[in-house]
Amino acid sequence: MKKINVAVAGLGRIGKIHLKNLCRNFPELEVVAVMDVLDESKAIADEFNIPNFTKDFDELLASPGLDVVVICSPTDTHADYVVKAAKAGKQIFCEKPLDLSLERVVEVLEIVKESGAKLMLGFNRRFDPEFKKIKQLVLNDAIGDPQIIKITSRDPGPPPVSYIKVSGGMFLDMTIHDFDMARYISGKQVKEVFAKGAVMVDPEIRKAGDIDTAIITLTFEDNTMAVIDNCRKAVYGYDQRLEVFGSKGMAQAENNFPNNHKLYTESGVSGDLPLHFFLERYDASYNQEMREFIDALVSGSEMPVNGNDGLLSIAIGLAAKKSLEENRPVKIDEILN
Ligand SMILES: NC(=O)c1ccc[n+]([C@@H]2O[C@H](COP(=O)([O-])OP(=O)(O)OC[C@H]3O[C@@H](n4cnc5c(N)ncnc54)[C@H](O)[C@@H]3O)[C@@H](O)[C@H]2O)c1
Repeated sequence: MKKINVAVAGLGRIGKIHLKNLCRNFPELEVVAVMDVLDESKAIADEFNIPNFTKDFDELLASPGLDVVVICSPTDTHADYVVKAAKAGKQIFCEKPLDLSLERVVEVLEIVKESGAKLMLGFNRRFDPEFKKIKQLVLNDAIGDPQIIKITSRDPGPPPVSYIKVSGGMFLDMTIHDFDMARYISGKQVKEVFAKGAVMVDPEIRKAGDIDTAIITLTFEDNTMAVIDNCRKAVYGYDQRLEVFGSKGMAQAENNFPNNHKLYTESGVSGDLPLHFFLERYDASYNQEMREFIDALVSGSEMPVNGNDGLLSIAIGLAAKKSLEENRPVKIDEILN
C-alpha cells in the first residue's frame, strides 16, 4: 500500500515531539520533508533521517507526492500556513491556536472548507488517557448529569517575557487548553464567561500586559458550570487535575507522577513531585492525537478536533479577556456576533 507522505513545519519543542512520534510509531506513513527557519534545525532532520530540509514553507509544500502537513511553527504563522496548505490540496494538522484574531480564524476556516482539506487542531489533552476515561464516564452516565467541572492547570514556571509578549496573553496561550477541555467534557456550548486575574508571580509579566494567575468561571447552555484555576508558577511542578461532579457521583483525575512510591517516616509522608511539564505529562496524548488524526484521514471520518473547536476555544478566550478588562460576566454571543 502507498505510504502517506507527511511534512513537518517548525522543529521546536512541540515539532520535535510530533516528528519523533511520526517517525517511530506510524509505519503507514513517511516523513518526506521538514522545515524550520533556523539552520541549526537541519541537525534534527539528520537525526531522524529525513531526506529533505528546507527553510521555506512553499518549498516544503512542493515536496513531490506530499499528502499531509503538520504545522508546529509559532502561532503567528499558523493561519498563513494553513491557508497555503489547504490551497495546495494538502491535509492539515495544526498546533493550537489557529490565530489570535477571531475574524482571521473565520476567514481561514472558510478557505479550508472551500478547499475540501481536512483540518485538525492540536488540542492534545483530549487524548490524555486519564481525561479520556473521565469523558467516557460522563458519556456512560456513570456520574449522572454533570453539574460542576473543575480544572486545575498550573505550570511549573512562567515562559520568558519575550514569549509572553507575543503569546496573545495567558487566556489564549495557556487557558485555551482548559477551555477546550471544559467543552470536551461537557459536550455543551459555553454561554457566559467570568474571569478574575492578577499578577502574583512576576511583575515583568504585568509590564508585558499580561497576568499570571486566574480563576475563570464558564457557564454552559444547560447551566452546567466549570471553574478553571490557572497559575504560571507552581513550585511543586506541573499541576494538571480534572474533576466532574454530577447527580450520580464524582470523577477525578489526579496528577501523574514518575512513580507512585511513598516514604513514610516519623516526620511525615513524602513522594515524588508530579511529572515536570507538558512534554512529560502529555507524552502519550501527543502520540494518540496523531494516531486519531491519521486514522480519521484514512477512514474519511470526522476530525476528532475540528476548526470549529478551535474557533470556539478562541472565542471563550476573548470573552475571558473582555471579562477581566471590564470586570463583568461576558456572554459568548458578544464575541461571536
Ligand atoms: N499542544 C500543545 O501542548 C503545545 C505545546 C507547546 C506549544 N504548542 C504550540 O505550538 C507552537 C510552537 O510552540 P513551541 O513551544 O514548539 O515553540 P518553539 O519556540 O519551541 O518552536 C518553534 C519553532 O518554529 C521555528 N520557526 C520560527 N519561525 C518559523 C516560521 N516562519 N516557519 C517555520 N518555523 C518557524 C523556530 O525556529 C522553532 O524551531 C505554538 O503555536 C504553540 O502554541 C502547543
